[in-house]
Amino acid sequence: MRIRIEKLVHQGMGIGRIDGHVWLVPLSAPGDLVEASPVRQRPGLVEARLDAILEPGPDRVEPVCPVYGRCGGCHLQHIACDRQPALKVDVLRDVMRRIAKIDLPQPIIVTGRPWSYRCRVELHGIPKNGGTRIGFFARHSRDMVEIDRCPIADDALNAVVPALREAASRMRATSPFTIEPVAGEDGQLGIVARGGIGDPVFAARILADMPGIRGAAATNPSRGHRWAVEGNPEVSFPTDGGNGGLTTLVLDPRGFTQANRRLNPALAATIREFALAGPGIKVLELFAGAGNLTIPMALAGADVTAVELNREALLRAGEELKARGLNAILKTARVEELSADPDLASLVPDVVVADPPRTGLGPVAAHALARMPLSHVVICSCEPSTLARDLTVLMDSGFRLDRIALVDMFPQTFHIETVVSLVR
Ligand SMILES: C[S@@+](CC[C@H](N)C(=O)[O-])C[C@H]1O[C@@H](n2cnc3c(N)ncnc32)[C@H](O)[C@@H]1O
Repeated sequence: MRIRIEKLVHQGMGIGRIDGHVWLVPLSAPGDLVEASPVRQRPGLVEARLDAILEPGPDRVEPVCPVYGRCGGCHLQHIACDRQPALKVDVLRDVMRRIAKIDLPQPIIVTGRPWSYRCRVELHGIPKNGGTRIGFFARHSRDMVEIDRCPIADDALNAVVPALREAASRMRATSPFTIEPVAGEDGQLGIVARGGIGDPVFAARILADMPGIRGAAATNPSRGHRWAVEGNPEVSFPTDGGNGGLTTLVLDPRGFTQANRRLNPALAATIREFALAGPGIKVLELFAGAGNLTIPMALAGADVTAVELNREALLRAGEELKARGLNAILKTARVEELSADPDLASLVPDVVVADPPRTGLGPVAAHALARMPLSHVVICSCEPSTLARDLTVLMDSGFRLDRIALVDMFPQTFHIETVVSLVR
């Protein structure tokens, strides 16, 4: 069928309409006239395959990567880099209108470099016929796409791909595993390996012995959750310095790190500014990780209470605070237990700052915030649909949208990082 693509929607699909049916066409761009055929049908909706581009839309460009379209990592390489943020705003608007019934004001758009920005990639290893293949998963499947270089990955990561392939072949893997090299701002790498590697001690040693590697940590959960560590896998990571400058954290790559190290300070500064975190401001920070946002807000003079599930990450945040002569209250807890924790339940913060995983705040935490005597909430979200669901709960309890920013942490992909400030 011939379809004119009207716009992009959630997950980077182009949509067009035929006879009242919406067609979802992957790898299409607004304005394209395409030939597509149905793959799956639902009432009113056709999931299609792109067969041919008959007329390119105005934003279409030639993808740079030879495995683009096959690899599951990128979804927007066929769209001009400078158009992607505006198209993501349109997608965000659509999701907010559909799920939260909100008309979004124009967001501030923060962008960085469109290529070589990922400081962390997850390579999958699959043992096969006595050897081991490493690469990324294909679109919508676990088929392996082998790569020599990934154009959105940091040069330091691309430089170690051949050595990683060679190391993986010696790791005596028995079942699938992952290898995540993480590049610090000093160019040094830490590596984390998880899964069916034969002997984690041996695997950590092989990885840490590679040139340019500071250290490696490896675990095989089927043999217990103990980590084998060789060298020092920690990486240096820049964040906002609380006053317009930068500061450098030392992070353990076994815990969460932002994937775009270069744009991380701008993300953290946007959140700090939206939260008005400054001297005397009481901040309750949820999903604090290893302090990537805690440190900037504490440096700006705010009184921060930070809540995080991962105890090791929070201990790291404590060390970073101590190294700078700063104080903050750090609580290892699940955010869902906020109301049940007497210390947290009695807090009256000026602002709550939350940076949840893709699942969002979730109904329990969102309703807990809605019930608190609270007038300001800042949420950093990497998934518009769960953000929309959380906003619905908060706006039903009297909050309104005050400021919004789209920080394009993931160019060439459909991922959308949003920071919202809500006031009541
Ligand atoms: C998106 S990361 C943000 C971390 C930090 N703000 C940063 O920028 O590095 C989300 C964090 O939430 C933590 N987390 C996930 N579920 C949680 C829960 N239910 N309660 C508390 N923390 C949770 C994860 O361990 C992770 O550190």
